Amino acid sequence: MTHDQATRSNEAGSELHMHVVADYAEVSRMAADVITRVVQENPEAAITLPTGETPRGMYQELVRRIQDGVLDFSRVQFFCLDEYWGKGVDDETSLTAWLDDVFLRPAGLDSDHVHFVPSLALDPVEGAAAYEQEIERHGGLRLAVVGLGPNGHIGFNEPGSPVDSRTRVLELTKQSRNQNAAYYDGESSIPDKAMTMGIATILDADLIVLIVSGASKADILKATLEGPITADVPGSFLRTVGERLIAIVDQEAASKIS
Ligand code: GLP
Repeated sequence: MTHDQATRSNEAGSELHMHVVADYAEVSRMAADVITRVVQENPEAAITLPTGETPRGMYQELVRRIQDGVLDFSRVQFFCLDEYWGKGVDDETSLTAWLDDVFLRPAGLDSDHVHFVPSLALDPVEGAAAYEQEIERHGGLRLAVVGLGPNGHIGFNEPGSPVDSRTRVLELTKQSRNQNAAYYDGESSIPDKAMTMGIATILDADLIVLIVSGASKADILKATLEGPITADVPGSFLRTVGERLIAIVDQEAASKIS
């Protein structure tokens, strides 16, 4: 195993933890290690984990550990991060259905402990506020794992998302809709809106893990970690939490970082 740990100062002077690891398999394993540690220390933790291509390997690793009896997820409170507006778990082209297939069902999570983004709420403002309250009722997020969209989004917080944003419905960019259509071989029409935990919802977590892999993310990862902290690159706001952020990235993704 080759990995390189470093700490990097942020604007506030505190330091995020940066791990540049050899490859995707290492990103997956190390992210699973952090999640395992958090859950072992706090079995009833409220956590959120992302969808997308990046976390697939991490989920395989977690499912293996759960099925081997090494990791117990049965008391975890799982909060979904984002969802297409108007789609729910019963829609096979929803993010929640994907998550159900890849992780929630294979891991045997109790449905009482799985909290869906209220993407079908009659009143989105009320639904979003209730979701935030539900997170608070479970003690706040102990852990948030996020991936990085090609335009710097985290969850579905698109460019322009304010640092103090909370769970809400927002317009998806064409770039994100195209990126997401690729998950379905271009065959699903992606809604033009999504509901996502906000930037502040994510930043409030006790620990945040950013996972990024592959050369296609090199430019946006550089902008995220080394460019200005700005709503134009929502992921850059992660740097404001200092040592509560662990970035786990592979060498290809880190290739443009100085
Ligand atoms: C998607 C999701 C994000 C995800 C990101 C990166 O659109 N809404 O939660 O982290 O984009 O996806 P991927 O890992 O497939 O590159």
